[in-house]
Formats: sequence, structure tokens, C-alpha cells
Amino acid sequence: MEQADTTWIDVCSIDDIDEGGMYEFQHDANRIVIYRLEDGLFATDNVCTHEFALLSEGWLENGTIECPLHGALFDVKTGRVERGPADCALKTYAVRTEGTRVLCSV
Ligand code: FES
Repeated sequence: MEQADTTWIDVCSIDDIDEGGMYEFQHDANRIVIYRLEDGLFATDNVCTHEFALLSEGWLENGTIECPLHGALFDVKTGRVERGPADCALKTYAVRTEGTRVLCSV
């Protein structure tokens, strides 16, 4: 169920994200990245929970994102840590489309 304080923002066109690709954006102080997988769109914080690195500069493969700095691996659907050195999950965000637009709840 959607929380009352959820705001959906219009981020980009679906054409801006290749399948298997990522789209990073900033909303207020939050840096967020949207992932386009075969089975849908998902979003997490774009900053690694270990130190400062942008996950959008890492590698997206098999539903996981690998941090470019020390190689932590996160499940992009749940934010869960699949491999350290990070030990804290990423925040996730709901994503949906409206026509060709991609919306993210922030
Ligand atoms: S900053 Fe991401 S694993 Fe260290």
C-alpha cells in the first residue's frame, strides 16, 4: 500500500533507458538510479552504503549491481547486500510507467 507521503515524480522517458541499462537522477538531496531489467524497472539509492561511490558507474548483471569502488554487490530489486564489504542494504524506490514516461516514488 502506498504511504500517504509518497510523491511520484516524472523522471524520464522509457526510451532513455536501454534494457539492461541504468538512469541516474537526483531529487532534492537523494541520488537515485533506475535499473531496466527484463522483468521491469527498479530503483535504489545511487550511493553505495559502504563508502562514497556511484553505483550507476558500476556493473549491472543478473539483477545485481556491483559497486565500482570495492566490489560490493546488491540485489537491485530488494537492495539486499549479496556480497560485502558493504553490510547495509540500499534503500529501494517504487517505479512505474505511465505511457512512455517513467515515474519514481520518492
Ligand atoms: S564504496 Fe562501494 S563497496 Fe566500497
